[in-house]
Amino acid sequence: MTIKIKAPGRVNIIGEHTDYNDGFVLPFAIDRYVEVEVSPFKKFVLTSKLYNQTVEVEKNERRRSWTDYVMGVVWALEQAGYRVEPFEMQIESTLPTGAGLSSSAALEVAAAVAIVKLMGHRIEPKDLVQICVKAEREFVGVRCGVMDQFTAVFAKKDHAILLDTMTMDYEYVPLNLNNHEFVLIDSNVKHELASSEYNKRRMECETILKTLKKRSFRDLTEKDIASLDPTLRKRAKHVLSENERVLKMVSALKDNRPMLAGCYLYESHASLRDLYEVSCDEVDFIVGYLKGRAGILGARIVGGGFGGSVLALVRKGFIDFNFEDLDREYRKLFGRSIKVLRVSSSDGVLFSHLISPGSESAT
Ligand code: GLA
Repeated sequence: MTIKIKAPGRVNIIGEHTDYNDGFVLPFAIDRYVEVEVSPFKKFVLTSKLYNQTVEVEKNERRRSWTDYVMGVVWALEQAGYRVEPFEMQIESTLPTGAGLSSSAALEVAAAVAIVKLMGHRIEPKDLVQICVKAEREFVGVRCGVMDQFTAVFAKKDHAILLDTMTMDYEYVPLNLNNHEFVLIDSNVKHELASSEYNKRRMECETILKTLKKRSFRDLTEKDIASLDPTLRKRAKHVLSENERVLKMVSALKDNRPMLAGCYLYESHASLRDLYEVSCDEVDFIVGYLKGRAGILGARIVGGGFGGSVLALVRKGFIDFNFEDLDREYRKLFGRSIKVLRVSSSDGVLFSHLISPGSESAT
């Protein structure tokens, strides 16, 4: 028996570094995927077409490489009581890695669904999300929030998801952009710093709560954070203002006000650059270049930061004739090229693979 599953990457419209702070996010899944094909085998053997590697791995073996995303899922499934027998897995991807589009969560979710199906288990979608998050946090070692895995599972075509990461309540928000569209510009800066700096930001946020003796960022006000030291105050200010921007963005989308939506993107970028300090020169250059140009409504860095992609809201057709100028300037300054990715929204595995939302128990 062979099982084939694909899970999408994601773009977060707004709400960056809020998902591990009990905040709001507004992602949608894109039509770029990680696809896995899995069949029973006598050992765990994983093949990555991207890295052109076939590796035999032991259960629970951490190799500090791409195999950890799959073996982390195996580990987390077993921790949750789902037995996993050895298998052979082939991994293919149309999702660029290191571009801030969440290729790791897509791999985890595709692998988890494929393994669960191969083993004949059934699983609640929300449990599937938590198993993939646990794999990334405790096996891979990046203390991520829940947004990426949640999106790869719950996303719905033509919609973004407003997710409250405190309650896990969510609402689908139609992506009515009329004659505008989202475009991704990959800076080609791989965000290698991301995992260590990411964990550092998380620790800073924990220190903020401890210092102010609060349980959640949702209990914090601007007044509370005034007493923090300057760095922590900047971090807290980003989280508080970004949460407000998510809700304002939802209203702008619902009220059909793309110009306003664009302003929130620029505001979010400035906050990520100056307060949360997770941008880099290359990405700042791209956003700065786009700002104020006709047809560009807004732009910002997406994902964990320190490279990756810029999300721009543009008038349809605009980017085609201006992208070459940007690329030329960028190459002159940074010695590398940008890549424009036109993406559409897509379904998460819940809809594309019809995972049953019915309650099932582990074996
Ligand atoms: C990474 C993490 C997410 C989220 C973003 C920043 O993509 O995996 O959980 O924290 O960074 O918003």
